[in-house]
Amino acid sequence: MQSMKKIPFKIFITILIAGVIGILGEIILKYHMDKLLDNYEEIIYEHTVNRDYMNDIRVMLYEHQALVAHHVMAVEESQMKEYEQREEEISVKLTNTLSEFGKRMNTDEREQLYHKVYSNYYSYLNNARVAIALSEEGKDGAARYYLTGSMADFVEKVNSDLDNLDILSVNEMNEAKTRMEYYISISVLSQFICILGIAIATVVSVVYCYRIAKNLDRYKDNLEKEVEKKTKTIRENSERMISYQNSTIIGMANLIESRDGNTGEHVKRTSYYVELLAKEAKRRGLYSDILTDDYIELLVKATPLHDIGKIVVSDKILQKPGKLTPQEYEIIKLHAKEGGKVIQNVIGDIDENEYVAMASDVATYHHEKWDGSGYNEGLKGEEIPLCARIMALADVFDALVSKRVYKEAMPVDEAFKIIQESSGTHFDPKLAEVFLELRPDIEACFFENMQNVAQV
Ligand SMILES: [Fe+2]
Repeated sequence: MQSMKKIPFKIFITILIAGVIGILGEIILKYHMDKLLDNYEEIIYEHTVNRDYMNDIRVMLYEHQALVAHHVMAVEESQMKEYEQREEEISVKLTNTLSEFGKRMNTDEREQLYHKVYSNYYSYLNNARVAIALSEEGKDGAARYYLTGSMADFVEKVNSDLDNLDILSVNEMNEAKTRMEYYISISVLSQFICILGIAIATVVSVVYCYRIAKNLDRYKDNLEKEVEKKTKTIRENSERMISYQNSTIIGMANLIESRDGNTGEHVKRTSYYVELLAKEAKRRGLYSDILTDDYIELLVKATPLHDIGKIVVSDKILQKPGKLTPQEYEIIKLHAKEGGKVIQNVIGDIDENEYVAMASDVATYHHEKWDGSGYNEGLKGEEIPLCARIMALADVFDALVSKRVYKEAMPVDEAFKIIQESSGTHFDPKLAEVFLELRPDIEACFFENMQNVAQV
């Protein structure tokens, strides 16, 4: 996964570098193209101007040749003078034009061709002067010989040299054009390669990103499944641990109770009464800031441990059939105080702190009385934890109607009467009222339980 994460970054860098190289290449090519274009335009301009010069030279040369011919053919002296004067003017003009044209020769090759032009022109001019001189002397035959012979040859040579200069310019133009076409081809090719490279890199990047996204989804799914599996295992272990704890607690409570001569039914019944009373009190809105579903669940679970402190009381006292002496009663009373300590020592290290605190309160304070006459701290009213006040009602009622080694079972009517009479002295009056009103359910539970015990 780690190496795959780096791939899009590498591709991004590749695209960036390709883009930068492409842009730089384009800038360099454009610079060269601009230079070539300027050069090409300059060559075309030079060629055009040179052609104008060459046309002028050709025209003036033919005009000069015609004037010499007219001079040779002229009969009157005045005509000869006129042609001679015009010939001189045009030869000066032609010489000046050739000199200006010579200054435009910007390469060695051109300069060499120009010198040939000028040399042949100079030869032509000398022959023309000879022809004029012969004409003036009346030697028209010889003059015609120069006119149609050497003069015509040199004119032809001058024209041929000018043609060579023209061909040179055309060749230069073609070369410049070829170079430009070459650079244009390179530019188009480089643009194509650049675009193709970026396109390929983009496609590869998209494919890799897609693959990474798919791998991430798969990884996420696997992780979720793994977490779900672990959570399930933890929950199962936790539930198993709670089940073991509950079994241990119930076992300890039954063990304590068995020392008192009971069969474990007291634990079951008191748990039922506690649950019944707590739920009804909650339904009626009593102590709504304390009585929540979680609170009731913990209370029912803590109920079996209310007498766990009896572990410090000897069997001799617990199983004594007769009335206890004041000293023995004081020892019995110790079970409440010791119950809280035992709970803290035995189950104090489990994770459920609220449960430990509640079990400790139930064990420590279930013999406190509403009027403050109970033990072991003499708390009164709502100073007594609510869980212990609920426990007290269930515990006392069940103790009254149950047979013990030291007493017979009290009739249910009488037990309810005692509960009623003890409301506000022993018991929380609000809870006692609810308990009394729950009599049908409590009796049903009690008689069904007695029946089961009898059958056993
Ligand atoms: Fe007790």
